Amino acid sequence: MTDHILQLDAVTMTWDAGEGGGRTVLDGVDLALARGEAVALVGRSGSGKSTLLHVAAGIAVPTGGRVRLAGHDLTASSEEARTRLRREHVGLVFQFFHLLPHLTLRENVAVPGWIAGDDRTRTRRRADELLARVGLGDRAGDAVGKLSGGEMQRVALCRALLRGPALVLADEPTGSLDDRTGREVMDLLLEMTRAEGGALLYVTHSPELAARADRTWRLVDGRLLPGAAA
Ligand SMILES: Nc1ncnc2c1ncn2[C@@H]1O[C@H](COP(=O)(O)OP(=O)(O)OP(=O)(O)O)[C@@H](O)[C@H]1O
Ligand SMILES: [Mg+2]
Repeated sequence: MTDHILQLDAVTMTWDAGEGGGRTVLDGVDLALARGEAVALVGRSGSGKSTLLHVAAGIAVPTGGRVRLAGHDLTASSEEARTRLRREHVGLVFQFFHLLPHLTLRENVAVPGWIAGDDRTRTRRRADELLARVGLGDRAGDAVGKLSGGEMQRVALCRALLRGPALVLADEPTGSLDDRTGREVMDLLLEMTRAEGGALLYVTHSPELAARADRTWRLVDGRLLPGAAA
């Protein structure tokens, strides 16, 4: 066990802009996220917040620097190894939920367990337990297609937490919800991640929701600055 679940050292990301040009979105980002810590990531649209989350999850490989997840060097890992590490250590929450509309709530939550080949009975029990904790226990067998946005995001939270990830990465998890529903979902995300002992890194455009974290990081011109002030 290392102290930090996630560590970035001098990470740069330059996207190919065609005709030999490049657009540097991350320009020497250093960060260390402690186990169990909750951090909000803020910054203007296009500042590279989603890029940083993709790099942290091993979905994208940075053009420079080093990314360590749970002590493993993602930047020195094959795509297959990165996928395995992501499944083992990371839960992802997206702005638009990414649920499978024809599956039930329970099945949607169980998907990461099926992919990982976990015991089916235990996965189902865990899915039901999580759904009960977000107030959707009595609807576990319904298809998700007709749920409200807030309900869908609660299902997505359960899916992210299913396998007890040490790190939850959430990209604007309240971005498509109204203020009140967004606050409720944020409460659940913070409470449940804490209760499970996981670290949380979440992107938000809301100063109010950013203030709920233990600390805030701001992306400005490719650099990561501490604190919420620009
Ligand atoms: N796969 C990609 N290929 C090329 N360019 C990309 C890619 N992903 C992101 N970019 C570029 O990187 C920059 C940062 O994008 P990113 O999505 O990380 O910003 P963001 O801070 O998440 O913005 P928003 O708040 O609007 O979601 C943008 O200019 C975007 O066009
Ligand atoms: Mg984004």
